[in-house]
Amino acid sequence: MNERTKKNRLIIVSNRLPIVLSQADDGTWQLRRGSGGLVTALAPVLKDRGGLWIGWSGSDQADRNVVQKLLRTETKNFGYALKPVNLTTEEKEKYYEGFANEVLWPLFHDLPAHCNFDPEYWRFYQNVNRKFANVIKQSARDSDFVWVHDYHLMVVAKELRAIDVKSALAYYLHIPFPPLDIFLRLPWRFQILHALLEYDVIGFQTLRDRRNFIQCARTLIKGIRVSGRGQVVSMKYGDRYLRIGAFPISIDYRDFAKLAGSKEVSERAWYIHEDFPEQQIILGIDRLDYTKGILDKLKGYRNALRRYPELQENTTLVQFVVPSRRSIPKYASLKTEIERLVGEINGEYTRSGWIPIQYFFRSMERPELIAYYRTAENALITPIKDGMNLVAKEYCASNIDVRGLLILSEFAGAIAQFQKYALLVNPHDVEGIADVIYQAFKMTAEERKDRMRRLRRIVRRYDIFWWVDSFLKAAFAKDLSDFPLMEDYVPEEFSESGAG
Ligand code: UDP
Ligand code: G6P
Repeated sequence: MNERTKKNRLIIVSNRLPIVLSQADDGTWQLRRGSGGLVTALAPVLKDRGGLWIGWSGSDQADRNVVQKLLRTETKNFGYALKPVNLTTEEKEKYYEGFANEVLWPLFHDLPAHCNFDPEYWRFYQNVNRKFANVIKQSARDSDFVWVHDYHLMVVAKELRAIDVKSALAYYLHIPFPPLDIFLRLPWRFQILHALLEYDVIGFQTLRDRRNFIQCARTLIKGIRVSGRGQVVSMKYGDRYLRIGAFPISIDYRDFAKLAGSKEVSERAWYIHEDFPEQQIILGIDRLDYTKGILDKLKGYRNALRRYPELQENTTLVQFVVPSRRSIPKYASLKTEIERLVGEINGEYTRSGWIPIQYFFRSMERPELIAYYRTAENALITPIKDGMNLVAKEYCASNIDVRGLLILSEFAGAIAQFQKYALLVNPHDVEGIADVIYQAFKMTAEERKDRMRRLRRIVRRYDIFWWVDSFLKAAFAKDLSDFPLMEDYVPEEFSESGAG
């Protein structure tokens, strides 16, 4: 790592801290690991470098002193400090559930019909972003590198500049940036864009997201100039220069691979497969979210069972749905729909000694998760749109026996790196999903091995430490000529060759 990037203290800011506070039945408060890709990716970065993580504790009920005390005692060994931002119940409802998850989340995943553009949400979004800015100000020195993450906090830089914070300000968007015709529907499109341009560096998951952002900025704001080519480009806005890059986020590859080889995981993996003798496991792991394409995945499997009866009793779909955002009506109703469909498919196809879908609605601890990754012959990942999809990368890293096959949606950010070696699916094409499931079932061991080896090589090379280094270099490098496009990275539309 270059000396300059090491010197500055790192302050990470995200809506959530990497932990969630919840209350047990006896009234005591507990901490557990937060779910989702942002936490998985960033926790090893801070553990490695040290620094401060500012974010919400996940509870609007816990007393401030309780939060402080738990953080002090329970996170002592994290290797970095945590600072909570407290949200009231109304802020949780209108900023987090409202603007973040009923406006930005669906809009940025190309689902404008799911949006509730309530002006009250926008007011709360700005107020809470201001609240975050005030907490950051308490800790930030001029020489610090303040790195703000994700769609919840797009206007924090503007608030920080307004209260005279002089630190370098960077932003990374973990979700896709939508194309112009979708972004235009946002009633607060100008405010959001202007506020984003207050950051010094902005990172996106893929070149496509960056291109969408640049197109929106050029169309909606006068006088924007973009120069350079490659992974990082420069944008002139008034008398300021920003750097805009594409940095596909990743995981701590070595950590996943090491745990996959541990005695505990090996034993668990063996026991899991004991329940599916002579069968191929098709694994699905998704947060409860309408962007993950869970319903069409289930329909695709049902279609496969119907059209390819050989799959009956020789495959099982093991589908984990991790609880998420259930206080939002669209999420609660999705759970009901998933459970109805699972019941229907199992009702139709179950035979004595074989159930087609094993469905779990819960989260897992790491060893169990990695045991499933290691032992499943196939991972079936079908988001209708996804910033990256870390489950795909974790599956490859944990697949140390190189027997697994990755089936991946064309609309996951990870496709830009994986398209040559995964089997691609259009998540809206139920028959297409069925065909690919069958193709996977029939694939030879040699072809599986060859594909998985190459996938693992990509994840190993471009791991989370590569990601953080390249982002920080982009922020500090004197000139940007040393940012060519990554190898193994397909910038534009994927080609047909990846499909099989
Ligand atoms: N994950 C989790 N709890 C679980 C199962 C999975 O926290 O019980 C993690 C998983 O390891 C991965 C993340 O959730 O790191 C999901 O990230 P992804 O990028 O695939 O999607 P996101 O949920 O962020 O939209
Ligand atoms: C996605 C988002 C994260 C978010 C995570 C879990 O990964 O990009 O910012 O933390 O989902 O969602 P939640 O609403 O529980 O934080």
